[in-house]
Amino acid sequence: MPEWLQRDKNLQLLNTLAVPSRAEAFVSLQHPLQLPAALDYAHGEGLPVVVLGQGSNVLLAERLEALVIMQNCLGIERLKQQDDSIWLRVAAGENWHGLVNWCMRQGYYGLENLALIPGAAGAAPVQNIGAYGVELASCLEQVHCIDLHTGEPVLLAAQDCRFAYRDSIFKRSQADQLLIQSVDLKLSRLARVQVDYPALKNYLESTGVHEPGPQQVFEAVVQIRRSKLPDPAEIPNAGSFFKNPVLSAVQASKLQSRWRLLPVYPQPDGSVRIAAAWLIEQCGFKQRQAQPVQVHARHALVITNPLRRGGSEVRAYAEQIIAEVHGRFGITLEQEPRSYGWV
Ligand code: EPU
Repeated sequence: MPEWLQRDKNLQLLNTLAVPSRAEAFVSLQHPLQLPAALDYAHGEGLPVVVLGQGSNVLLAERLEALVIMQNCLGIERLKQQDDSIWLRVAAGENWHGLVNWCMRQGYYGLENLALIPGAAGAAPVQNIGAYGVELASCLEQVHCIDLHTGEPVLLAAQDCRFAYRDSIFKRSQADQLLIQSVDLKLSRLARVQVDYPALKNYLESTGVHEPGPQQVFEAVVQIRRSKLPDPAEIPNAGSFFKNPVLSAVQASKLQSRWRLLPVYPQPDGSVRIAAAWLIEQCGFKQRQAQPVQVHARHALVITNPLRRGGSEVRAYAEQIIAEVHGRFGITLEQEPRSYGWV
């Protein structure tokens, strides 16, 4: 057993919901060369491998009978540059917001709407992180992976990743099959901005900014997020706990005729996304602040775990939310964080 491999590892500080959880075995991967020995160990012990980034989008059971590999490899490399574009290779362990900040300082644009999203760069393609009108898919070119069974490198082009709203091949056919080593991004060196998202547009207008540059968009996104989303370092949470449901136009207009205030977001493909936060709020969950596990008072889509209760308790509360929303609206919410440790 390599000396850097730990047994019975406590993961409570390694997941932002702060649920108590212990892993059978654990490796903090600092260098890709550690990987073959770690995979050999897992295969020899018959342990499945769970790859963890910065633990900001996972729900962990009390015990994981697995080798947990925390992807901590670092590095940002400039691959090539043209007058208007720059290509970067970002190691999976880089902190996402740290990367966005660094890009702003370098004058590399395109990520400013994705500021302050917790987590690691390597986790970004898994759920195709998106916020304020921009998704990672808009600037991602390739994902460098390692096959967890064979140890062989696998290179996926953006179109192979099947990116969709909060979705990718890494959550579907390739779930838990690959370890993401690095992502290649194409960013702009021209100061173009994307400010169509209503909340962002309104915020900029209300602060008197009429022709925003990337730095102003970055600052606006940071301010908006801080005003409604809890900082996981202060109140344990995993961001949006549910996806916004995507309905057909017909389903959405039926719902809207009954619930006139339901926020709806028509999509370019004709489907309609509806605000899960609104559905949860209507069921009265924001008022239930005496519960050990709650929804955040300023954003009903975020489940918080202030008392650091176990994953099973968080899961039970999420199931209660799903059941009540279904009972009232006939809509089944889909959990966003990945669950580990339950059969
Ligand atoms: N709303 C409520 N009650 C609330 C909060 C929101 O009714 O407590 C309604 C409001 O009408 C609001 C609408 O829901 O206008 C949408 O809210 P918001 O703009 O905050 O966006 P969201 O759809 O709830 C999504 C992402 C967020 C991302 C924002 C901004 C998902 C699952 N979540 O939230 O992502 O920051 O858009 O683009 O798509 C995350 O993944 O952790 C995350 C925070």
